[in-house]
Amino acid sequence: MCRIFAAVISSGDVASTLKIGLKRLEYGGYDSSGMATIADNSLIIKKGVGKLDEVDSVVHFDQMKGRIGIAHNRWATHGYPTTINAHPQVDCGSRVAVVHNGIIENYMELKEELIDQGHTFKSRTDTEVIAHLIERSLNAGDDFVTAAIKSSKELQGSFAIAALYNGEPNKIIAIKQESPLLLGIGDGMNFAASDASAFIDKTDLIIPLEDGDLAVIDNLGYKILRIDSGKGVNRDFVKLSMKVEDISKGIYSHYMLKEIMEQPLSLRYTLELQSVYLDVITELMDRSRTVYLVGSGTSYNSCLAGSYIYSKIGAFPTIPALASEFGEQYGRALDVDSSLILVSQSGETADVLKVASLARMRASTVLGITNVVGSTLTRITRAYIIQQAGPEIGVAATKTYTSQLLTHLKLALNIGRKRGKLSQSEMDDYTTAFELLPELTEKILKGVYNSTKELAENLSGTNHIFFMGRGMNTATAYEGRLKLLEISYMIATAYSAGESKHGPIALIDKGVPVIFVVPSDETRKTMISNIMEIKARGGKIVVIGQDDDKELMEISDKFIPLPSMPDIITPIGYILPLQLFAYHMALVKGLDPDKPRNLAKSVTVQ
Ligand code: AGP
Repeated sequence: MCRIFAAVISSGDVASTLKIGLKRLEYGGYDSSGMATIADNSLIIKKGVGKLDEVDSVVHFDQMKGRIGIAHNRWATHGYPTTINAHPQVDCGSRVAVVHNGIIENYMELKEELIDQGHTFKSRTDTEVIAHLIERSLNAGDDFVTAAIKSSKELQGSFAIAALYNGEPNKIIAIKQESPLLLGIGDGMNFAASDASAFIDKTDLIIPLEDGDLAVIDNLGYKILRIDSGKGVNRDFVKLSMKVEDISKGIYSHYMLKEIMEQPLSLRYTLELQSVYLDVITELMDRSRTVYLVGSGTSYNSCLAGSYIYSKIGAFPTIPALASEFGEQYGRALDVDSSLILVSQSGETADVLKVASLARMRASTVLGITNVVGSTLTRITRAYIIQQAGPEIGVAATKTYTSQLLTHLKLALNIGRKRGKLSQSEMDDYTTAFELLPELTEKILKGVYNSTKELAENLSGTNHIFFMGRGMNTATAYEGRLKLLEISYMIATAYSAGESKHGPIALIDKGVPVIFVVPSDETRKTMISNIMEIKARGGKIVVIGQDDDKELMEISDKFIPLPSMPDIITPIGYILPLQLFAYHMALVKGLDPDKPRNLAKSVTVQ
């Protein structure tokens, strides 16, 4: 949902640093890109429509002079993706340049007011009002910081902003309100960015800003002021363990493939989650009357699988819920006896953060599972777990899904143990099952790479693909469908197999492909009946099942065999072929799986 990056260095030109950072932030939006620098007290602005490389091949960002600059990748909200609407946006006199992530909710009122006062607007963006507000204050005699503080007070909505003013050419102003923003503190160079990957090759020392903070940055240092009082405030440093290698593609052609293939390692890291964090969350869950599992997209799918997992392992009921629906669905039911586990890879999803505010207002306990150290989620939850999956750049979530599942598994084991629901041998069996995961997932990924590629080639001409699962693996079907549709743009439908005869089966006709997720657990027998119902109506049967399951092999048109595994970890094992299938399908269709159209890695608007 747009990504911003600002940098100031002691000598040389900052443009190449900005471009490298912007490239790493491209997952946040690629409708347009742009940069502004200041050289010889003049603003230089270059921007254009399309992905960063496309824009760069036309405007040549590297040629921009100046040691201070701001940069932006856009995911369009207000105004079409055109060059005029690309950021940076400027004031009437092109003295102030602004990049912004978020939405200014009152921009229409502000725009009308500013137009009445003689300001001329060029774009259709909400962002442009910020540049004009700052200009108005500067014209009234304020300095840059005062103008930025006054302007921020007029804005309603969510915003992370970086701004330059050529009248004070050594300063960047960075402002945070509900959208992610952190500072990077280096040696003779300082940064502000939506995400630390932008500058991780320069410094690993970050300061996450709080809502209502305004930072003034130059090459020698920074200060942070509160917008409401104008007073200075100290914020803690965080030292990151992220390395440049973690955010490069390495030997892989796409981040998505790298992240799929990395799962044996990411699961190994999640296995090592420190028990102290799990214990705190378990304790708070245990004290609650109702526990909600809340997320969006893939993270919601992990919550859905999680609800089965907590019940199966811990005999512990939970309610999975979509973050975007939560307020309407459960808002008034929240109270001091409710706990919410908010699950968000990025820790910045606006729908999830809104649930946190609501829950805190109603005195509920807000807990979190996220993959990003220093994200907003980590600052607003009473306790949280970092999944330890490592940075995920591909827009399609893959390794973070399986690590969320493993986190749920570990929490479920903890709660079952705490509540006395498990015998020692059951606990040992579960622990052994979890520990199998790195080796097992490695074997699966190697085993299904080619067969999922063939399947994608085989099904690429079809109009509509179905996914069906049962029990815990209903979530696997949902997640397989989400992966396929978001990166290959194929129409896909997922159902719990038991629901198929309540409606969806009407869509089955000769040759319609249905992918069944059928582990050898207690759902297998009923799944076979569901398969036969679809088969009888001419559906093309694709089954992911256990490699020694002869019956399944016989009834399927295409069988993807997986090794035997304990039932409880099948949601992790069985999603892997579906991730690879989606990846291959995108390639067969000539699409870039890392940058699906209309999407952004982290959705910071509601
Ligand atoms: C996943 O493949 C999607 N791109 C998307 O559904 C994502 O899972 C969702 O936006 C939630 O993101 P979060 O985990 O960062 O909150």
